[in-house]
Amino acid sequence: MTLQFDDEAALAMERMYQTPDVVGQRARFHQALALRHGESVLDVGVGPGLLAREMADCVGETGRVAGIDQSADMLAMSEKRCDGLAQTDFSKADASELPYPDENFDAVVSTQVYEYVPDIDKALSEAARVLRRGGRIQILDTAWDSVVWNTADPSRMHRVMTAWDEHLHDPNLPTTLGSRLREAGFSVSHCEVIPIINASFHSNCYSHGISAAIRNFVNGRQGINQEEASAWRNEFKEQEERGQYFFSLNRYLFAGIKL
Ligand SMILES: C[S@@+](CC[C@H](N)C(=O)[O-])C[C@H]1O[C@@H](n2cnc3c(N)ncnc32)[C@H](O)[C@@H]1O
Repeated sequence: MTLQFDDEAALAMERMYQTPDVVGQRARFHQALALRHGESVLDVGVGPGLLAREMADCVGETGRVAGIDQSADMLAMSEKRCDGLAQTDFSKADASELPYPDENFDAVVSTQVYEYVPDIDKALSEAARVLRRGGRIQILDTAWDSVVWNTADPSRMHRVMTAWDEHLHDPNLPTTLGSRLREAGFSVSHCEVIPIINASFHSNCYSHGISAAIRNFVNGRQGINQEEASAWRNEFKEQEERGQYFFSLNRYLFAGIKL
């Protein structure tokens, strides 16, 4: 079973997505998207609603920010965060079956969602359907093969990360995303890498939060038990004391235009 976005996961994700690492990533995402006042935008897999809340300010009261998510707990967070903003609306729906008419939005965005969707090509064709001609799509996804994590036990690290790959459908979606976007009817106008680098294991960095999620998820997979999963994460605390901690991962931003 892949990662479940229930209430507990939603709270942990909300914390992680407010670390400076992810705040910086969102800032770059906004800059590339350059939303204008009055535009309508759909956020596919809106999650805790941090991006949606910021986009609501960009489009203003004459614009629209719609968000869909399959998790009721995530949607509740988005609704609370955007409470009182008439330009926002949220619906429980699957990325592969969007509850909107054709050519309804100026932009469709999605950050760290399509890798969880079983039929990614269907989801991208749905995004194309609801976008107006000339409208833009912007997607950010992680390549989990890009992780560089210092360890004295590479074999354990390999098993843990192999088990973690089971938390989603496609752990390396960016490698095929450009061709999939073209197949779905987009031209790809821009692609860039957004790295996260942590040289210290402190509680307000991305890898502190994600390593806790990984430790919890891998327990019982690939022959890993709770003790080993905890030992894997405890190594980072020991490294931090010795000044040896290092983590990095790459996220990829793709922008496209509906032809
Ligand atoms: C890693 S979170 C990212 C949340 C948000 N986009 C962000 O970057 O803050 C993934 C989100 O995608 C949602 N999700 C996963 N698969 C989905 C699907 N098939 N349809 C709709 N939402 C989905 C999850 O419920 C979760 O809220």
